[in-house]
Amino acid sequence: MKLEINSSQQMQKLGQAIADTAKGNDLLLLNGDLGAGKTTLTQGLGRALGIRRPVKSPTFTIVREYREGKLPLFHMDFYRLENDDLSSIDLSEYLTASGIVVIEWPELIINDLPDEYLELKITRIDNEWDSTTRRVEFIAKGERNEAWLSKIMKEFE
Ligand SMILES: Nc1ncnc2c1ncn2[C@@H]1O[C@H](COP(=O)(O)OP(=O)(O)OP(=O)(O)O)[C@@H](O)[C@H]1O
Ligand SMILES: [Mg+2]
Repeated sequence: MKLEINSSQQMQKLGQAIADTAKGNDLLLLNGDLGAGKTTLTQGLGRALGIRRPVKSPTFTIVREYREGKLPLFHMDFYRLENDDLSSIDLSEYLTASGIVVIEWPELIINDLPDEYLELKITRIDNEWDSTTRRVEFIAKGERNEAWLSKIMKEFE
């Protein structure tokens, strides 16, 4: 499943469709290079959950928790993961805390993740540095996430 996104606003709208169809304990993996739009999508998602403070990139903290919305949002970014950092956060606790877990740079902890998730691969499809076009590829692992993906697609139409 693939989509073409033409602006950061549209990327946030995709985040909104994801939030509107999410349930407790959902896991969303966001892959894509620096500046692909992972945090931008998460901002739309957070706003749609009813989180009023702006969702910021958690690059220096690994996890940011937002508990004031419709579902708790646990936003993680493993880009700067140091060897011993992972032991300082209890990933399994977040994954069972009835919130939505959103992970940027999940490939850095792929061995610690469950095998069912919804993954988005965000890529630029042209070479202009300021291009606002992105391709989003969806990979749903497991029935629950396949069902989530079809709801997202209906919601986003
Ligand atoms: N279609 C688009 N979708 C998302 N962001 C876009 C788009 N077009 C332009 N942008 C811009 O690209 C930048 C994306 O930055 P963002 O922080 O979301 O990337 P990221 O994938 O989280 O990067 P990092 O790996 O550094 O965390 C923003 O400045 C955003 O405004
Ligand atoms: Mg980011």
